[in-house]
Amino acid sequence: MVDSTPQDPLFIRACRGEDVERTPIWVMRQAGRYLPEYREVRSKTTFLELCKTPELAAEVTFQPIRRFGLDAAIIFSDILVPVEAMGVPLDYNPGPILGTKVASMADVDALKVPDPVVDTPYVMEAVKQFVAGMPDTPLIGFAGAPFTLAAYMIEGMGSKNYMGTKRFLYEHPKAARKLLQKLTDTVSAHLQAQVEAGCKAVQVFDSWAGHLSKGDYLDFALPFTLEIVERLKKTGVPVIVFAKGAHASLDELSKSGADVLGVDWCTPLDVARQWTHDRVVLQGNLDPCVLLGPKERIEREVQRVLNEAAGAKGHVFNLGHGILPPTPPEHMAVLVDAVKRNGVRRVPAGL
Ligand code: CP3
Repeated sequence: MVDSTPQDPLFIRACRGEDVERTPIWVMRQAGRYLPEYREVRSKTTFLELCKTPELAAEVTFQPIRRFGLDAAIIFSDILVPVEAMGVPLDYNPGPILGTKVASMADVDALKVPDPVVDTPYVMEAVKQFVAGMPDTPLIGFAGAPFTLAAYMIEGMGSKNYMGTKRFLYEHPKAARKLLQKLTDTVSAHLQAQVEAGCKAVQVFDSWAGHLSKGDYLDFALPFTLEIVERLKKTGVPVIVFAKGAHASLDELSKSGADVLGVDWCTPLDVARQWTHDRVVLQGNLDPCVLLGPKERIEREVQRVLNEAAGAKGHVFNLGHGILPPTPPEHMAVLVDAVKRNGVRRVPAGL
């Protein structure tokens, strides 16, 4: 991997565990329904049309940066966008609803591995428009991890306990692995294309990893995430893996080659440090619900998270999952301000 130059943005240097003047901050789902300016754009179109219209996708990606001055942006899209390109009809209400479910090897065989540039050109175009409009803000490209995407494809929608998904893994392990491998190829290409279009980092969301036992996570999820990380490392951009709820596998994940691991709010960052042996930079992990409460509490909890991260190889401030739609935008401003004022300065040993 190439060493950072002093001109690299704060967020990128922090992802690489380098010297930073303060802890950077961005927030998962930072473009979204808690912002009146997002709701205004969204009121005129469907969610999927918004994802497929580069000018609008770029515009809603700009919105939280303009309002809060965050240290990184994440391109506005959805983890299911590449799944639609595999041949699965997709709708939202407001969560994803898939028109067909994967139930057999024949269903897996019928799926195509899309060419991201040909089949989802609007994502790359939105990336280019963002970079042209805000060249100084590093843009994060993203994709869902194979297990989380497979869960949507098998259930046809979100689920409380992913019963159908696990039954499929246990009853049809061969078909399940073939599905996970097709998703690995799809996701790797999708992330690579976003980097080629101008993204400066990538994040893999394994949102439902916490539903698996450790054994099943190591069997059905981690190997595919490892392959994606290995392929993306070749691009030279920092790779972030957020496997929500996979606490018991943080040690294994810290050896995956990922530069940064996202941590949800259930594991304090000082504990995550011990489990990952300071091999990686940590990202997280304020409970998104804290932003629903009073400002004093937000400031106190920010300080707690910063204290727990002090001494880590590196820290990127974030929530432990996506920001919630009822969050008052002023509370997000309190969060960003508190991190900017109190974020820890880090100088690597030897300087
Ligand atoms: O600002 C950003 O973070 C970029 C945009 C983004 C969206 N989805 C926009 C969105 C990102 C990074 C995602 C990822 C995503 N999508 C994940 C992984 C992150 C996570 O939360 O674990 C998952 C699991 C999905 C699937 C998905 N898409 C769900 C569960 C939903 C419903 C969400 C809800 O709160 O109801 C969506 C729809 C969606 N994706 C919305 C947005 C802004 C709401 C759509 C609307 O405007 O009506």
